[in-house]
Amino acid sequence: MSFFRPSDFVADSQLRQNPEDLERLIESIHQELLPNLKIESIKPHNPVIVHQVLEPWQLLGTGNYAGVFYHSDYCDLVVKVYAPGRSGWEEELEVYRRLGSHPAFSECFYAKDNFLVLKTLYGITLYDCLNRGLKIPQQVIEDIDRALEYARSCGLYPHDVHGRNVMMLEGRGLVVDVSDFLREEPCLAWEDLKKAYYWLYLPLFSWHRLSLPYFILDLVRTSYRLFRRLRLRSNLI
Ligand SMILES: Nc1ncnc2c1ncn2[C@@H]1O[C@H](COP(=O)(O)OP(=O)(O)O)[C@@H](O)[C@H]1O
Ligand SMILES: [Mg+2]
Repeated sequence: MSFFRPSDFVADSQLRQNPEDLERLIESIHQELLPNLKIESIKPHNPVIVHQVLEPWQLLGTGNYAGVFYHSDYCDLVVKVYAPGRSGWEEELEVYRRLGSHPAFSECFYAKDNFLVLKTLYGITLYDCLNRGLKIPQQVIEDIDRALEYARSCGLYPHDVHGRNVMMLEGRGLVVDVSDFLREEPCLAWEDLKKAYYWLYLPLFSWHRLSLPYFILDLVRTSYRLFRRLRLRSNLI
């Protein structure tokens, strides 16, 4: 396998990742993960469905574009596989190229066809924090704000920054999904999430161990999408 093809890699990142581990992982992606993976995007606004993934690979999470998997021998790396029909892996690679190395973001070590090999972020999404009743300190929100400012300074446009795309790790904030950061049109998702945090969560809920079932969280997500569509339409009229 030719290994350091510049088109497959984000410059320099591989130097800090053991190249032999990465080589073995990529072999396993081609031989074990991809041939046995059944992944489908049914509705573009809902997470993809993973019908099958075989050991030693495990599903870590899903988003509207992709499934994210890890191999039990290489826990510091995850593989984000775009579902058939969902484009965007090249744009995401370009975003990681521009971001370089920053503590609040992952990094891309390799990318090809429809998948990217990324640094694992060991956080919990804010969405899952609400489900598990974990308190979200203000520092998390401030860290994410600063990270998004950094992304802007790299010529990017933070987009679709919502509860499933940001994480908390040891009281600090991380941004886990940057796939739409090349889209220039304005997106208010993060500003709306911050309003909900400062106006509702902090004064009303942060005192309790608020643990919301996923069907409630999904209801909030769907209602917010509807609200966003109505707001857009009323702004156009
Ligand atoms: N680098 C990572 N480290 C750990 N978990 C991740 C990482 N990237 C994604 N995930 C998990 O996978 C989920 C889906 O990934 P995401 O990048 O949001 O996909 P999409 O672009 O399809 O929305 C995330 O919500 C998160 O739980
Ligand atoms: Mg996402």
